[in-house]
Amino acid sequence: MSSRAIVLAAGMGTRMKSALPKVLHPLCGRPMLWYTLRALRDAGVDEMLVVTNPQVDVAIAPLAQDFSARTVMQDPQRGTGHAVQVGLAALVPSAGTIVIAYGDMPLVTPAIFENVLADVDADAGTVLALVTARMPLPSGFGRIVRPSTGSGRSGVAKIVEARDCTPAELAIDEMNAGIYAFDEPNLRAVIDKLSDNNAQRELYLTDTVELLIEAGRRVVPVVADDYRAVLGVNDRVELANARAVLNRTLCEAHMRAGVTIIDPATTYLEPDLVIGQDVTVHPNTTLGGTTTVGAGSEIGPNTRLHGATVGVNCAIRESVVVDSRIGDDVGVGPFAHIRGGSIVEDHVHIGNFVELKKTTMHANAKAGHLAYLGDGIIGERANIGAGTIFCNYDGKKKNTTTIGADAFIGSNSSLVAPITIGAGALTGAGTVAIRDIAPGERVVGNPGRPLPATSS
Ligand code: UD1
Ligand code: MG
Repeated sequence: MSSRAIVLAAGMGTRMKSALPKVLHPLCGRPMLWYTLRALRDAGVDEMLVVTNPQVDVAIAPLAQDFSARTVMQDPQRGTGHAVQVGLAALVPSAGTIVIAYGDMPLVTPAIFENVLADVDADAGTVLALVTARMPLPSGFGRIVRPSTGSGRSGVAKIVEARDCTPAELAIDEMNAGIYAFDEPNLRAVIDKLSDNNAQRELYLTDTVELLIEAGRRVVPVVADDYRAVLGVNDRVELANARAVLNRTLCEAHMRAGVTIIDPATTYLEPDLVIGQDVTVHPNTTLGGTTTVGAGSEIGPNTRLHGATVGVNCAIRESVVVDSRIGDDVGVGPFAHIRGGSIVEDHVHIGNFVELKKTTMHANAKAGHLAYLGDGIIGERANIGAGTIFCNYDGKKKNTTTIGADAFIGSNSSLVAPITIGAGALTGAGTVAIRDIAPGERVVGNPGRPLPATSS
């Protein structure tokens, strides 16, 4: 059955003390709100509406669009119940089930949404299913009050916000996660009856529970297996806690799929990575963007891969690889930096303190030590000596250095681009080449410019 969702993201997130809207604060490489939207989409919700405000809408709308979701602005922000009023007003009424979720729950899973959706049964009088969790210290979360007697004991009587709780209510260890599936006509029937008679002078969505029960409907709790999966994030301490839980979850999924992670606590992963079997990730390593690592490779320690495609059986040690492609059986590092769309083919060796920018190294080429190789094309089996610089920038534009197969570039060679070094050519140590070197030619020192033709 098709279903839709309203995601609330209009709160100012004042507890973050930030110029950035709360739901855009990232964890594990994605904004908080991304996780809620993705979980909803993966749960089969086909229409999503995000409630924003005029200050944050420009920043949030593009993210919503990535999930084909519209935004609607709530101004002023008069509470979660008011946000839902604004959301419902922007949707054509429908007879189905509607999910309401908050944009500050990055650990939520599709299964949690599937469970609440499955528990609504308007024909049987169950018009609201909401996620609760038992947790040791629910501190600022709303408390779930169960009916004290009778057959309704398995249901929910009301939700009381922490700031409105009596001491006895504060002691309740069951919290409101902020994930709801409503029968939409029943939600519409009560949403305009909310009042702001509470500590925060806001319209609370949570007060719909009592209104529905007064109308003779049933509200059922869906108790989450693990409270950590439904924690809302309100400040940066909670953000760091959520990041640690999420990172651990990502690490565990890869470990269970055959990846060795020496120290999950210092391995920083993002969603949607592809890591092959028997890859070993060493400590202090960050893998992000659309990174792929082939089977049997060793990554780290102290390494960052972002937007990197790494082949099989590579070893990337203490290095940074950004937006670049590495073939099979390649050794990189320690202390190498490969970036800007570089392509490193099979069996290449890149050693200490070598920087590659937008450079292709063909198979079996080597650059063992201390080199800047920018805007270059390096032929098969070419050897780049220590201290080689591709002088790619003439002060105005970047120029290309092309090196043929089997060329030998001596230590401390400066190759002033644009320049072509022929196949099998050799530059001696300390060469400053300002003209092309022919295939097989051997030069040393400054081979100079070809002399201009004399006029006499
Ligand atoms: C809310 C719940 C609380 C629950 C907790 C779970 C209410 C009244 N309280 O409290 O029971 O335990 O979440 O994390 O619902 N928002 C708007 N417009 C507004 C106000 C808020 O869109 O006018 C959005 C916020 O951007 C946020 C979400 O609604 O994404 C929740 O608001 P927040 O202020 O974080 O509520 P909590 O105090 O956490
Ligand atoms: Mg919150």
